[in-house]
Amino acid sequence: MKKKIVFFTGAGVSAESGLATFRESKNGLWNNYRIEDVCTPEAWNKDKKLVLDFYNFRRKQCLEAKPNKAHILIAEFEKDFDVTVITQNVDNLHERAGSSKIIHLHGELMKVRSSVKPNLIYDWVKDVNIGDKCEDGFQLRPHIVWFGESLDNIKIEEAIDAIMKCDFCVILGTSLQVSPANGIPTYLKDNAELFVIDPNDVPINFHSNVNFIKAKAEEGMEVFKKNIALKN
Ligand code: OAD
Repeated sequence: MKKKIVFFTGAGVSAESGLATFRESKNGLWNNYRIEDVCTPEAWNKDKKLVLDFYNFRRKQCLEAKPNKAHILIAEFEKDFDVTVITQNVDNLHERAGSSKIIHLHGELMKVRSSVKPNLIYDWVKDVNIGDKCEDGFQLRPHIVWFGESLDNIKIEEAIDAIMKCDFCVILGTSLQVSPANGIPTYLKDNAELFVIDPNDVPINFHSNVNFIKAKAEEGMEVFKKNIALKN
């Protein structure tokens, strides 16, 4: 029976692939718009083209980016462990690195959905424009959780279930500032081992023995891999 590892990742795991994090990039601006002003239902109702252009830009960025060594090492752990990736990221770098069990809490850049019937979801790699419609004739929108929108409860339940059953949890590249995503790691069982990989300090108040690996994702994953090899 393989031991279970959960990798709980955020924007920091994709930083070395060239994708900016949220709270470090110069005050979260995109083309002089505050990100919070572009990723909301209000922005969508006010200016659909602006919102579509923002995600078309991020989708292109994501397609030009490549999985880095951290994404690849996470995927390689599937050889010896039962791995679940719970990510707040909307890029597809974990998929492209080969991870096979991924829970996207905040949606996916490479998917779009009907703006009226949320269950109509489509794989999508090109630009989305005004007039691109779902099969029922409604405008397509990014399949992303916007500020003020709720997460998919099924994904939250799946994520909590994975955390409650894991033997090792690695929190990698997230400031844990956004709820309800940041509540998921708190379900970790007491005798599970927790590792935190981040070049900056990340306050953890929900678990007694935390192994901090103060490093960027690629180097930190190498350290974690050596650490686990010693234990197993
Ligand atoms: P943040 O920008 O809040 O945090 C990024 C974390 O990555 C910080 O703790 C950094 O110290 C760390 N970091 C930076 N460079 C790194 C590197 N090279 N290697 C490893 N870690 C590095 O991003 P998230 O925590 O992912 O939500 O943000 C969570 C959510 O806030 C996002 O999913 C998004 C945003 O609002 C939605 O879009 C709904």
